[in-house]
Amino acid sequence: MSVLSGKKIVLGISGGIAAYKTASLVRLFIKAGAEVQVIMTPASKDFITPLTLSTLSKNPVHSTFYNEEDENAVWNNHVELGLWADLMVIAPATANTLSKMATGNCDNLLLATYLSAKCPVYFAPAMDLDMYKHPSTLASFNSLKQFGNIMIPAETGELASGLSGEGRMAEPENIITFLEADIASKLPLKGKKILITAGPTYEAIDPVRFIGNHSSGKMGFDIAKCAANLGAEVTLISGPTHLSTSNSSIQLIRVFSAQDMYDACHAHYENMDVAIAAAAVADYRPKNVAVQKIKKAEQSFNIELEKTKDILASLGEIKKNQFLIGFALETENEIENAKLKIQKKNLDLIVLNSLQDEGAGFGKSTNKITFIDKDFNIQPMELKSKEAVASDILNKVIAHYHA
Ligand code: CTP
Repeated sequence: MSVLSGKKIVLGISGGIAAYKTASLVRLFIKAGAEVQVIMTPASKDFITPLTLSTLSKNPVHSTFYNEEDENAVWNNHVELGLWADLMVIAPATANTLSKMATGNCDNLLLATYLSAKCPVYFAPAMDLDMYKHPSTLASFNSLKQFGNIMIPAETGELASGLSGEGRMAEPENIITFLEADIASKLPLKGKKILITAGPTYEAIDPVRFIGNHSSGKMGFDIAKCAANLGAEVTLISGPTHLSTSNSSIQLIRVFSAQDMYDACHAHYENMDVAIAAAAVADYRPKNVAVQKIKKAEQSFNIELEKTKDILASLGEIKKNQFLIGFALETENEIENAKLKIQKKNLDLIVLNSLQDEGAGFGKSTNKITFIDKDFNIQPMELKSKEAVASDILNKVIAHYHA
């Protein structure tokens, strides 16, 4: 999935021949899953029609400070557009527009929106080779970079003038690649390796029967997805569940029993920066597993159980620099029990679920949690979707690294 997926993009188009390529650029943004609003300078309409761009972006195109086609002329609110955007891309950015951006000139909607935007701004220059090298253009580039704007360098090739050289707007595909790489490199969990356990474990009784639980795995899978979206490299070790993932940043390792999960966790833990144990691991397993299917015979039948290894505690024992997060599902003395678990398992943070809270627990799409950290700071959270809870948990990880 592209990092542009779900992003709100304002595309500012200024008046150069490369404007015709923005049709492809808008298509690629939409294909990547972004939402696009286009702002055109008046001059750019000579190179591509607003109708083309509104059709492709599935949104009206903005160009003036008021809506020309509407008798009741509504003001086009550049501040709103600037605040709406997660990123603004100005492509093509002509020498004229770049110079105006650099000096705070504000005589069209694109420039007014640029001055209002709080999000990252990218610009893709497009002009003839001598214009591209002119000291005043270079001065514009430098000023804009100093403002924190990001330049998508022009490419070399044949120019509209017939000359050949540097100044062609980067090809739409290359603009997308540039944006994806730049955004990915700045994600808050970039470079972090996160181990996540999820789902139930199944403990075999015989070749066809097992002891399991109702965990769906959703909480762990949601954490994995959210961590990957934040730039982390995720190893997701899951017990049996119908859930799956196609995210290339998530390595999914499917296991069956608590012992399998223990082995898989220990095979990967050493290289990890973070481990989050969201699995509902069986605490006991049948002491003897029958080799053949057990036949019914006696009126009653006992299975002797033995303790499984506590995976989380074992990770806590060998912890080096890992930030270790556990879950606790409690029905009484929640806070005290959770605090004991922090100490017993050497955790940095525990995510406490109380079954007394409505909306928390197995099989639900919501969760109500309380964070308790290793210094016993307690932070109760609202009832939220599991996706939102996943995001809250990862914000704790981000805060740990960016404190
Ligand atoms: N856990 C684990 N391995 C186990 C049991 C639990 O890794 N064999 C992890 C769970 O993934 C969870 C945390 O330990 O993050 C808490 O599990 P929980 O069942 O609530 O607590 P227990 O320590 O098993 O204690 P008890 O069942 O007595 O409450």
